[in-house]
Amino acid sequence: MDIRLDGKVALVTGGYGAIGTAMCKALADSGCKVASNYRNREKAEKWQAQCREEGYEFGIYEADVTDFDACGRMAEAIEKELGPIDILVNNAGMTWDGSFRKMTREQWDTVIRTNLDSVFNVTRHIAPGMTERGWGRIINVSSINGQKGQFGQVNYSASKAGMHGFTMALAQEVARKGVTVNTLSPGYIATEMVMKVPQNILDQVIAQIPVGRLGTCEEVAAAVVFLASEQAAFINGANIAQNGGQHMH
Ligand code: CAA
Repeated sequence: MDIRLDGKVALVTGGYGAIGTAMCKALADSGCKVASNYRNREKAEKWQAQCREEGYEFGIYEADVTDFDACGRMAEAIEKELGPIDILVNNAGMTWDGSFRKMTREQWDTVIRTNLDSVFNVTRHIAPGMTERGWGRIINVSSINGQKGQFGQVNYSASKAGMHGFTMALAQEVARKGVTVNTLSPGYIATEMVMKVPQNILDQVIAQIPVGRLGTCEEVAAAVVFLASEQAAFINGANIAQNGGQHMH
């Protein structure tokens, strides 16, 4: 099946991370015009230049996803320069792990604001345009740890589980207007974020994955392209697990 998304405009938040970059490239390969947000201009410009060398042209727009008004300005700028946003991938996220007995209020707030509040902050400015135009795809990138919980991640697991609550509610509100909202829950993917987990713990994690390895960024990106496609129009409010069988439910 050849998935074409020619002419569609896609916004991938956190586009310059490892998984985000793979998503931006896969969406561009399918024909999308792709934008991402940034907080750090220098880092984003370096990423943009690197991608350009590889033949990809991505728009970069300033916005801290924890800032509602900044997200509004970002959406406006993208729509002015690239056109109305058809595909929104809420991918920006972070971890700040620690056992609950050591977790600080700052650790909780920072992770909830970055991973969960951000989904409201960005989507609120973009979903109404999608419903007015009668087509849209919203993909919330959650995690296996939002589905099963994880020792040391009360903040992260809560934020990621919250994302799917958001998905299920909004999916009901916008479906009749041609917009689908889904959650994608990757498992442990070979990224810097996962490599920060102490090696002995990571070895235990890999031992729990029936497929016997970490996932790749390209695999996650391929799932995003499919969820963004016309062919996926009947998938709505779903939570797609992509974890090598580490957690089944
Ligand atoms: N289950 C049960 N007990 C565990 C445990 C587990 N999974 N992990 C640690 N413990 C125990 C230890 O054995 C130790 O027990 P004792 O005190 O009896 O010796 C105790 O918990 C240690 O507790 P501490 O409060 O001292 O915790 P710590 O400072 O040693 O650090 C941690 C704990 C930071 C959570 C560390 O275990 C860790 O980094 N865990 C990995 C968390 C993880 O998987 N993060 C995923 C990051 S990647 C990601 O999030 C991407 C994605 O979406 C998948």
